[in-house]
Amino acid sequence: MKLRIIGSAAGGGFPQWNCNAPLSRAVREMRPGFLPRTQSSMAASADSESWALFNASPDIRQQIANTPELQPPPDGPLRGSPIKVVVLTNADVDHIAGLLTLRERTPLVIYATARVLKTLADNSIFQVLAADVVERRELPIEGVTEISGPDGPLGLSVETFAVPGKVALFLEDNAAEGFGTAPGDTIGIALRAGDTLLPGADGVLRRDSVRAYYIPGCAAVDDALKARLDGASCLLFDGTVFNDTEMRDAGVGEKTGKRMGHLHIGGPGGSIEALSDVALDRRIFVHINNTNPILEPGSAAERAVTGAGWEIGYDGMELDL
Ligand code: MLT
Ligand code: MN
Repeated sequence: MKLRIIGSAAGGGFPQWNCNAPLSRAVREMRPGFLPRTQSSMAASADSESWALFNASPDIRQQIANTPELQPPPDGPLRGSPIKVVVLTNADVDHIAGLLTLRERTPLVIYATARVLKTLADNSIFQVLAADVVERRELPIEGVTEISGPDGPLGLSVETFAVPGKVALFLEDNAAEGFGTAPGDTIGIALRAGDTLLPGADGVLRRDSVRAYYIPGCAAVDDALKARLDGASCLLFDGTVFNDTEMRDAGVGEKTGKRMGHLHIGGPGGSIEALSDVALDRRIFVHINNTNPILEPGSAAERAVTGAGWEIGYDGMELDL
């Protein structure tokens, strides 16, 4: 199974269009070691021919241009795409806006929870994805789904599960508990190639066959999540902020990571600490916000992350599992 991080930044990208803070300035000025990053998305394939995208970012057009495997093959039909499936992990703008770029009547299947499908249904602009060519299929909040595109199975299965999070920013209800967040608003995914996961004699899904976890948004790490992740070969995890208050500290906004539904990376209670006793072959941060000091090569935050065995995801990063 091949995974390719096609967008490693959080919403806004790096640099963000309106951001003049030091990190965005540094990448705009092309200072050494500062990598431009597009918004959050990953591609996966079992056969290197048919691909599933995990989230469709507003930068998808550029991401396809940067990724030959996602372009129509030279010997292919006049219209078509190796992208057969899009799996959504939430309804955030950085994860659904790219669907609009996938119009023009090429068959495709979108998988998402009922909550996220409802957001697409409620916003009529998504009707540009004509229902007779783009199918929408519901993912369970908890369960295993063998994903298939318009021409058949991709040889990939996704195990979906709820993670602590928050409803999309544009759907927040200030009068409601948790801003109106409900089950299915944010999910994590265990991805594997091959046959659907089978429950063992004890009814538990076989963990040893799970290859990769993709969790770009997560507000907390609890024991259930740790138990699920333990022994996996790869974790791509929410790296939005290093410090919970870094947006305020940088003077660019008031919101904390917690308020945005993102667990911070560093220090007490952060994701490095919370996941330190979970066995993982590789651990990689994705969905990195433009304020995150790990984006500065050699910074204390970057050293803390790499020193703890984490990798910092980047656009074009390939994983062969
Ligand atoms: C998030 O990850 O918190 C959202 O993508 C923020 C946004 O809507 O830009
Ligand atoms: Mn986001």
